[in-house]
Amino acid sequence: METELSAARLEVMQHVGKDLDALMAEYLKPIDQNWQPTDFLPDSSKENFFSEVKLLQESCRDLPYDYIAVLIGDTITEEALPTYESWLMDVIGVDQVDNPSGWSRWVRAWTAEENRHGDLLNKYLYLSGRVNMRAMEVSTQYLIADGFDIGTDRDPYRNFIYTSFQELATNVSHRRTATLSKQFGNPHLSKICGVIASDEMRHAKAYKAFVSRILAVDPSELMLALEDMMRKKIVMPAHFLRESGVKMGDTFSHFSDAAQRLGVYTTMDYIEILESLLIEWEIETIRDLNSGAEKARDYLMALPARLRRIADRTRIPELAYEFSWISR
Ligand SMILES: [Fe+2]
Ligand SMILES: [Fe+2]
Repeated sequence: METELSAARLEVMQHVGKDLDALMAEYLKPIDQNWQPTDFLPDSSKENFFSEVKLLQESCRDLPYDYIAVLIGDTITEEALPTYESWLMDVIGVDQVDNPSGWSRWVRAWTAEENRHGDLLNKYLYLSGRVNMRAMEVSTQYLIADGFDIGTDRDPYRNFIYTSFQELATNVSHRRTATLSKQFGNPHLSKICGVIASDEMRHAKAYKAFVSRILAVDPSELMLALEDMMRKKIVMPAHFLRESGVKMGDTFSHFSDAAQRLGVYTTMDYIEILESLLIEWEIETIRDLNSGAEKARDYLMALPARLRRIADRTRIPELAYEFSWISR
């Protein structure tokens, strides 16, 4: 970013960051009271461990192929957490060396909560007996090594817009996998996906609140950042997902097709998330905008209807792809 613009961003981040204690108390949970993966998994120090694993495997036997594929993709997305943490640590206003009690504290504490998601899903999938764990682990290592390109620069505005969107998207997808697993007769897995989904919602509320506070002091710049993010489209953090022998990003499109087929995360969800953010941030009625930002607002307010027209014409591929992750 240009120096002048970054100086202004830094100032806004310091201003919003003054309330960080209150924000963290509101949107994150005390560690000792938080759930941990083990709360939802058979305890390997207990004698009934093997019989519990047997029951767990039985309850996973009939889960559909696409469903397992989506669960694996979700897990790998969660396990690429090092990419997200290292990215956010580089954002303007986040400074873990010179200001460890500032925004970097939020990034660490948020990461610490998120870390439980991949941990829980990974252990569950390992126990399920349905997954080629080695192939999945190869994809995870590839994804972390490949990183991502989310178009947010070091800009806190673009990054908080991105995370607001992303936390809502992961809330939707984990919520849907929860509903589906109940329908498939696996209430245990449904509970697991459900607790993760509710973490994501709490995080979404936090990032949306950060953006609201920025909007209150720098509406024009935030509006321009939002327009830029939406023109580029919000790419998923796992967009580089691959398997061994597959080109970078190719596995992602198959994962995304499976999610569309199952209705776990669809183009309509993308549009609805956008609409919910426009309402949440009261984009339509924000005042004191410069002329560029006025135009950006017009673009944004017209965008959901435009995306809907395109979405009506796109077809979801029916072709089922053979993931190396799943042994049939
Ligand atoms: Fe997560
Ligand atoms: Fe999240």
